[in-house]
Amino acid sequence: MITGRARVAGVLGWPVSHSRSPLLHNFWLRRYGIDGAYVPLPTAQADFAAAVRGLRAAGFAGANVTIPHKEAAFALCDQVDESAQRAGAVNTLVFSATGISGSNTDGYGFVANLRAHGVAGAGPALVLGAGGAARAIAAALMQAGAVVTVCNRTAARAEALAAALPGLRVVAWEDRARAVADQALLVNTTSLGMEGHAALAMDLAHAPAGLAVADIVYVPQETALLREARARGLTAVPGLGMLVHQAVPGFAAWFGLRPEVDDAVFAAILGP
Ligand code: ATR
Repeated sequence: MITGRARVAGVLGWPVSHSRSPLLHNFWLRRYGIDGAYVPLPTAQADFAAAVRGLRAAGFAGANVTIPHKEAAFALCDQVDESAQRAGAVNTLVFSATGISGSNTDGYGFVANLRAHGVAGAGPALVLGAGGAARAIAAALMQAGAVVTVCNRTAARAEALAAALPGLRVVAWEDRARAVADQALLVNTTSLGMEGHAALAMDLAHAPAGLAVADIVYVPQETALLREARARGLTAVPGLGMLVHQAVPGFAAWFGLRPEVDDAVFAAILGP
């Protein structure tokens, strides 16, 4: 039931029709009987700033921000927390009397999902890719105490990431198979392996026993990389959990309750 006092939030993106966030947040709202709603907010790049200010003016509690607006959101905020600063991007906006606050919960969501699979995330990690997701994840792993190495097809982007995150190491894309030998964790943050994209060529022959392999791709839920990892007896960490866990802090801020992540949540966002 939505009354005149309902708290309202949503997700700004372009496109946004594929987003699972409305299913996720509305599942939690129903579960806890909260007077609130979470809606898709398809917003073109040119309209982003006006849309955010308009939502705040119209009494929204806040919003999630997804592709392609995360950097614009960072620039627009009146205050950003450390997670946003490290990521250089914002995915969660909270509106208050003092203005627009931004944070980035992608790295938190990634690490929380690792921990839900029994992986601490403090050991050495090899991150494939150098986009926005790679930055948020590398920063969160470094924060958790990991020595992180980044590896990207375009070396200049890996170097740029290392410049933004002091202490981050870089290896050449061609050396990724050998580089995995010294790691406790391998993470794919590229779009490779996603439905409709090329496959990720990643040889796990040098993987040490006990390596955990995480993929942020969640369509399909089990990527070829994760299947290969499982076949070798390694721990596989699917990407869908990152999406669920990254939503927790935003929900708590907008709706006043820290929601639980369990199997029913996954069933709700996967649909029939
Ligand atoms: P996001 O910000 O969401 O992480 P992105 O900036 O588009 O997304 O990054 C996508 C990542 O996938 C990049 O690291 C990209 O490598 P490049 O920097 O070399 O473009 C990587 N990627 C995409 N297609 C690839 C391919 N065919 N081979 C290797 N890496 C690829």
